[in-house]
Amino acid sequence: MYLLIPAAGMGRRMGSSRNKLLLSLLGQPLLAWTLKAAEASQSITWIGIMGQPYDFEEFKAIAESLHLTKPLQLIQGGETRQDSVYNGLQGLPERAERVLIHDGARCLATPELFDRCAAELQHCQGLIAAIPVKDTIKVVNEQHRITDTPNRQYLWAAQTPQGFEVELLKRCHQYGREQGWQVTDDAALLEKCEIPVKIVEGEETNLKVTTPVDLAIAEFILRQRVISEQ
Ligand code: CTP
Ligand code: MG
Repeated sequence: MYLLIPAAGMGRRMGSSRNKLLLSLLGQPLLAWTLKAAEASQSITWIGIMGQPYDFEEFKAIAESLHLTKPLQLIQGGETRQDSVYNGLQGLPERAERVLIHDGARCLATPELFDRCAAELQHCQGLIAAIPVKDTIKVVNEQHRITDTPNRQYLWAAQTPQGFEVELLKRCHQYGREQGWQVTDDAALLEKCEIPVKIVEGEETNLKVTTPVDLAIAEFILRQRVISEQ
């Protein structure tokens, strides 16, 4: 299975002056934890990382320090995550039929989650990892007045990995560009094209490190894992 890792963001909500994926988490850059999970996954055979060229040297150094056994390709990212994935798809080897896309910022996803998604992708065209939401979600208008409270039974929080047939995802990305659609995940492009996308049970610990609080929580979770492995 081919894996594309969007890693070309700025980390603005983290409030740091550099890409948050280069920040240290338990002594290693955040991206190193994501790569270690990909390396440990039995199903992943090829890894592409979309990044900004100014981060490439550090990405290379991280990959070298991990002694990855899987082929790794650096691909130039774009202005938005959507653009980065678009570029990543162009950078896939031609033989790639299916692909998993996993945010570099979700550095706590387990190898087992990659493997579950990869196995399930043999039976469908598109899927995402997701978990039921715990909070009651409110829809609000521009004046911050509540306009709706959707039934929680039907609300799931989207995570990555998200997996797709390569040709299909390429077509949806191309069409989305032409239509000017702006989306924050890849499944949304299939949804807009009315193509069914399946849910795979994600992991509560598979959080996207976005703010400093997330970084502290991620560190806590990793510490627990390291202790339980000893
Ligand atoms: N990403 C990307 N290309 C971009 C923007 C984001 O590849 N132009 C990646 C990020 O590196 C991250 C993932 O998409 O791994 C999810 O994005 P997000 O959590 O929003 O990260 P940032 O965009 O870096 O953070 P922020 O939105 O706070 O600036
Ligand atoms: Mg962002």
